Amino acid sequence: MEVWRIRGGKRLEGECTVQGSKNASLPILAASLLCPGTVELRRVPRLRDVDAALQILRHLGCRAEQRGDRVYINASGLSQCSIPHALMEQMRSSVIFMGALLARCGEAGLSLPGGCQLGKRPIDLHLAALRTLGADIEEQDGEIRCRPAKLHGGTIQLPFPSVGATENAMLAACAARGETLIRGAAREPEIQALQQALRTMGAEITGAGTDTVRISGFHPKSHVCIRIPPDRIAAATLACACAGTGGKICLKGTDPQQFSTVLYFLNQAGCDIITQNDRVTVCSDGKLRAVGQIATAPYPGFPTDAQPVLMAALLKAEGESVFTENIFESRYRQVPQLRKLGARIQVSGREARVQGVSQLHGALLDATDLRGGAAMILAGLMAEGETRVRDEGHVTRGYENFDGCLRTLGADLLLTHEGEKHGLSVQISQAIR
Ligand code: EPZ
Repeated sequence: MEVWRIRGGKRLEGECTVQGSKNASLPILAASLLCPGTVELRRVPRLRDVDAALQILRHLGCRAEQRGDRVYINASGLSQCSIPHALMEQMRSSVIFMGALLARCGEAGLSLPGGCQLGKRPIDLHLAALRTLGADIEEQDGEIRCRPAKLHGGTIQLPFPSVGATENAMLAACAARGETLIRGAAREPEIQALQQALRTMGAEITGAGTDTVRISGFHPKSHVCIRIPPDRIAAATLACACAGTGGKICLKGTDPQQFSTVLYFLNQAGCDIITQNDRVTVCSDGKLRAVGQIATAPYPGFPTDAQPVLMAALLKAEGESVFTENIFESRYRQVPQLRKLGARIQVSGREARVQGVSQLHGALLDATDLRGGAAMILAGLMAEGETRVRDEGHVTRGYENFDGCLRTLGADLLLTHEGEKHGLSVQISQAIR
């Protein structure tokens, strides 16, 4: 069990380089199966989800290792086209290996993926998209079997711009004979990152960032090097941390345009935001005002992944902020925990009303999911006294060296590992990186 120990009340000051994007890294790791030679990825964050993807690649017979922020994959020795449940359940993105395996082997065996519990997370759109390309898929009792089939191009019409379904379709379409159009595609920056990576690997693909992606061929290259773009949600999280605690931080190596909706609301709340090339400076006196209505939506709308951390930043803002969650059915799981700190939040269906309070006080919380856990840590930084967040590894799935990064900015927090040994409770402080 990981425990985040936070002493609140410190303003954040200083500079911090934003990590590479988790949600761009994962589909690109799956895409590396399509390359016959070595794929070198740079600026890959060290995260539990990245480890999970590397484990899957090794299970399939690939060489895959991470050295610092670089990952090297060689899929020439691929010997398997099925992934056991124990690996599938580690994260949601394991499902993206379905499209990659279909492209590489024409068949695949998987089970339903794991990932954050945010309500129902079906994969019907993934399956329908792959079936349009000729995949022969049978799903029974959580097991998914894609029987050997030749893929062909086609027009996929997504009824909702699912990020994962778009990625799966892009990967499978690389091996399809003829042209594929994905209409109603997700427009998230991670789709553009995947397109760029696939192009580097030899795919003829255009349209990412619009609602129609076109894939017309693939001529695999044998050695490629791909740089992972910055993580827009990690950047948004740090910006929200500074907004809530007060202070002035500069985020380096980021793309402000990709989280401009979050910066817009921080500005509305009273923060000064200065963007310059790949830098964002956030300046807050810690006395925020409520921002009215915030509704999550597919990109370029307000990201659902930033909803919990913006909520944390606004817990002490004067007035009422109203969130509407339109992407996931259950993404307010942080709320009962935040209330333990004294936050006033009312949830009704898709809506959460946050009434700013003048003070938060420390408490013992339990992380519920990745972004919800991050929100609790932010709220702990804004609270008086000590907050402890018990976490079964949610936050480290997506944030690289989160504690070290916040400490660099002046926060007082420590990530500790607690466990039971011979009936005795032991606590091991993590070495400061
Ligand atoms: C990606 O998940 C991200 N994960 C999520 O980030 C992010 O919250 C989400 O996109 C939305 O932006 C990764 O990139 C690894 P979706 P994904 O398919 O692909 C429904 C984080 O915190 N749906 O766009 O799973 C689904 O239930 C994570 O980093 C279907 O109904 O998201 C949801 O309500 C959490 N059927 C909505 O669409 C399907 O077949 C959006 O899901 C697929 C999705």
